[in-house]
Amino acid sequence: MTLATERATPTILELSSEEKVELDRILEENRGRPGATMVVLTLTQERLGYVSPPMQRYIADSMGIPLSHIYGVLTFYSFFRMAPIGRHKVSICLGTACYVRGGPSLVEKLQQVLGVEVGETTEDNRFTLETCRCVGACSQAPVVMIDDDVVGRVQPQDVAKALRKYE
Ligand code: FES
Repeated sequence: MTLATERATPTILELSSEEKVELDRILEENRGRPGATMVVLTLTQERLGYVSPPMQRYIADSMGIPLSHIYGVLTFYSFFRMAPIGRHKVSICLGTACYVRGGPSLVEKLQQVLGVEVGETTEDNRFTLETCRCVGACSQAPVVMIDDDVVGRVQPQDVAKALRKYE
């Protein structure tokens, strides 16, 4: 069963006026501050939800630093997002217990069912697919977290059913 018919390829090309206003505010608050890059990127994600490529360019230009530096920070720290998150976050645990009990096959199945790769959001913005480390429910491995719900002992054939109630 496939929930997404087309692969999601979210491409955000321009800043909205609201994003620009908020970025200007963040940049102004941190002008001349040591270590400002990390602070600016963190505040951007906190207030706008993610740091899109146009936001990255705007921040780099405004701070007079190379875009590659911004990109390097965003890719080094896994908590940064470069695209909006879906209404529901689906995280497959790849901690040791879940890994050996079938976590990787759940990744494969969920990518197939949702039509996205790990780190991407479905085109209808319903789900964002991620992997995570141990969530403390090893006795129920393999585990998938859907938002704050722990779904344990998940088999690949069960994943489509498990997603149904999340609109
Ligand atoms: S390893 Fe997955 S819950 Fe612990």
